[in-house]
Amino acid sequence: MTSERTATLSWDREEKKQDLPILSGSIGPDVIDIRSLSKTGMLTYDPGFMSTASCTSRITYIDGDAGVLLYRGYPIEQVAEKCDFLEVCYLILNGELPNGQQMAAFVKNVTLHTMVHDQLNNFFKGFRRDAHPMAVMVGVVGALSAFYHDSLDITSETDRKISAIRLVAKVPTIVAMCYKYTIGQPFMYPRNNLAYVENFMRMMLSTPCENFVANPVLVRALDRILILHADHEQNASTSTVRLAGSSGANPFACIAAGIACLWGAAHGGANEAVLNMLEEIGDVSRIGAYINRAKDRSDPFKLMGFGHRVYKNFDPRAKIMYTTCHEVLDELGLGNDRLFKLAMELERIALEDDYFIEKKLYPNVDFYSGIVLRALGIPTTMFTAIFAMARTVGWIAHWNEMITDPEQKIGRPRQLYQGHPRRDVTPIATR
Ligand code: CMC
Repeated sequence: MTSERTATLSWDREEKKQDLPILSGSIGPDVIDIRSLSKTGMLTYDPGFMSTASCTSRITYIDGDAGVLLYRGYPIEQVAEKCDFLEVCYLILNGELPNGQQMAAFVKNVTLHTMVHDQLNNFFKGFRRDAHPMAVMVGVVGALSAFYHDSLDITSETDRKISAIRLVAKVPTIVAMCYKYTIGQPFMYPRNNLAYVENFMRMMLSTPCENFVANPVLVRALDRILILHADHEQNASTSTVRLAGSSGANPFACIAAGIACLWGAAHGGANEAVLNMLEEIGDVSRIGAYINRAKDRSDPFKLMGFGHRVYKNFDPRAKIMYTTCHEVLDELGLGNDRLFKLAMELERIALEDDYFIEKKLYPNVDFYSGIVLRALGIPTTMFTAIFAMARTVGWIAHWNEMITDPEQKIGRPRQLYQGHPRRDVTPIATR
């Protein structure tokens, strides 16, 4: 970060002026450091943080115009092709790719933490069976702090590392438990002789009476989904985790806050919403009507899986997801899948439409991830929980980065107040 250049803000016909340092990152846009502005009595106004860099970070970089995504400097295309999800977890948490020895130790560490406290099983029984899995996830992940309070000293690097490993290891077990609970099947314990993704698929898709036989193409597809969703810089849920953590809250509570934020359809809930939308459209002949609805400002309907706050070009994750989608459907002999064909046609029509071209609305990662998950036998209501499982590592890395940032302060935005000025309370009888 350098501050040799300054930007000058002037107001009241240049009677008042303030020089503000310009900071440069290693790549990406420069930022105007407005921290000294509050001393002038002025604030900035930026709903949705469209023009605000809320922190410094070294984890993930996005160039939305060029369609670039880097994890710790490595392009997502290379990471998705050459690494598996746990390797990516190591990279995101530690900043470097592991060597063979480091990887073996990390895998062993995660694997030894896959089981959850037995009493957590009872916790599930308080939920209705028809609860949405994300509702259960928010509660159960938040409850982990009541089970693992031996490692909650956030000032201790060791404690933070243990909590990170526990979360990466246990969230898949909890996601699978959420699913089993809602369909009334017994929980499946993790099998530590299986690799991370295979173990998760087994916990989700097998029963005590029915063994799970892994198909490597499908395991790799889910692994890739997890890689593509592992981190995405200061998105809404990651910013939520950082904000929750800025008060000193424990990591399990912070991740539960992130899960709650992720649930919304504008964010992680989009993968579920895409599938629901495709089912609702139902047939290619109805695409035009839905495109028109998406373009109608008086209609709240949006084309789910389209558009992104940062990407104003193809989401690089969507391109990889599209290829994975083909691989999975070919493997399963579902090349003529109704919803996949509908999605491809919808994408074609939208990309040729002036509205979507002008507003730079391209398919995002969630446009195709739902189709892949559905083909893997995972029900729609579980899609966002799987996104949460993938993003857990990113959330923890950001939480840890925030805690160790010497410039970190409690997150406390201000406001542009537009309510009543001071007024006096009159007695109720005279109102
Ligand atoms: N369909 C139709 N119009 C859209 C869409 C869409 N999917 N997305 C944006 N627009 C329009 C929007 O109405 C606005 O129009 P106008 O300029 O006339 O007001 C313009 O494009 C700019 O959009 P915005 O809503 O101001 O942009 P944003 O950065 O605030 O929102 C978004 C980004 C992702 C929330 C939004 O594009 C959206 O709701 N997309 C659908 C939901 C979705 O797919 N979300 C997943 C995001 S990727 C996974 C993740 O990160 O969680």
